[in-house]
Amino acid sequence: MKHLISIGDLDRASAIELLDTSSRMVATQERQMRKLPTLVGTTVVNLFMEDSTRTRISFEAAAKRLSADVINFSAKGSSISKGESLKDTALTLRAMGADAVVVRAPSSGAAHKLAHSGWIDVPIINAGDGTHQHPTQALLDTFTLRRHLGGEQKQGECSGSVDGSGLDGLHVVVVGDIMHSRVARSNVQLMTLLGAHVTLVAPPSLVPVGADVWPCDVLYDLDEAIALQPDAVMMLRVQRERMLGGGYFPSAAEYTRRLQLTTERAHRLPEHAIVMHPGPMNRGFEIAGGVADGRRSVIVEQVAAGVSVRMAVLFHLLASNAREES
Ligand code: CP
Repeated sequence: MKHLISIGDLDRASAIELLDTSSRMVATQERQMRKLPTLVGTTVVNLFMEDSTRTRISFEAAAKRLSADVINFSAKGSSISKGESLKDTALTLRAMGADAVVVRAPSSGAAHKLAHSGWIDVPIINAGDGTHQHPTQALLDTFTLRRHLGGEQKQGECSGSVDGSGLDGLHVVVVGDIMHSRVARSNVQLMTLLGAHVTLVAPPSLVPVGADVWPCDVLYDLDEAIALQPDAVMMLRVQRERMLGGGYFPSAAEYTRRLQLTTERAHRLPEHAIVMHPGPMNRGFEIAGGVADGRRSVIVEQVAAGVSVRMAVLFHLLASNAREES
């Protein structure tokens, strides 16, 4: 694997290897080894052409904990806002000696274009492109699921027959704006690759065309999904910024009535079930504040996992690959 553009770049073995490396990164952090010398002399560029809090900061923390130099480059305040093209931006990064580029872009396919255009010949990591993919988010979500339900702490309590390496037998319900969610697309691919069963829940107008052939079930009623007693529920934000073209959307009152994860709904989940959200959250809209802060919530752990998982991805693309080539 030279780049990480999509979960499609991974097979089950390489996905599990990345999750195992992430666990080792957690162990180094827990042993107070805040900084590893692995990427000394390497420059990682964070090219963010769309807003981000968690992904941008955790990639920066991950690169610094591996001793890389980090250049943060955002569209606001750069020549991209003056109309500079992706090609000229890539040529500039090449001239500055970037060894890897982490890219977030509003348009689907931007990371793929950067990786395969020939403008710059370094590993490209997709930090979210349009509605297409967000592979490191899916890795940190599965990492969090595995830590909670994958046999280490909770074996026997969850409904699945987890083999300790994947997510075999787990049932994950993903709820909300599936249409615009690169997180949902990446998670359906990765969780099913690792053996989980995924059920999507959304209003019909927020289910993408073609979802009927995805390897998952689609429901329109959250209560029906909760009755299936899933092991985890992941709530998604409604991405109004991607709805500028119009289209039918249920009113806020109707949406919260039908799809909000309320305290009462969370109470009906199995005892061991966890609640997830990739962030940013709209508290009081898709998720009640009491559930976001409640005992089932692993939302803050997901953010923490982001650093370890991104350390693992940088390690595999920069250190491990370099070792194999020499
Ligand atoms: N989950 C996620 O991608 O969050 P940010 O947009 O804050 O990076």
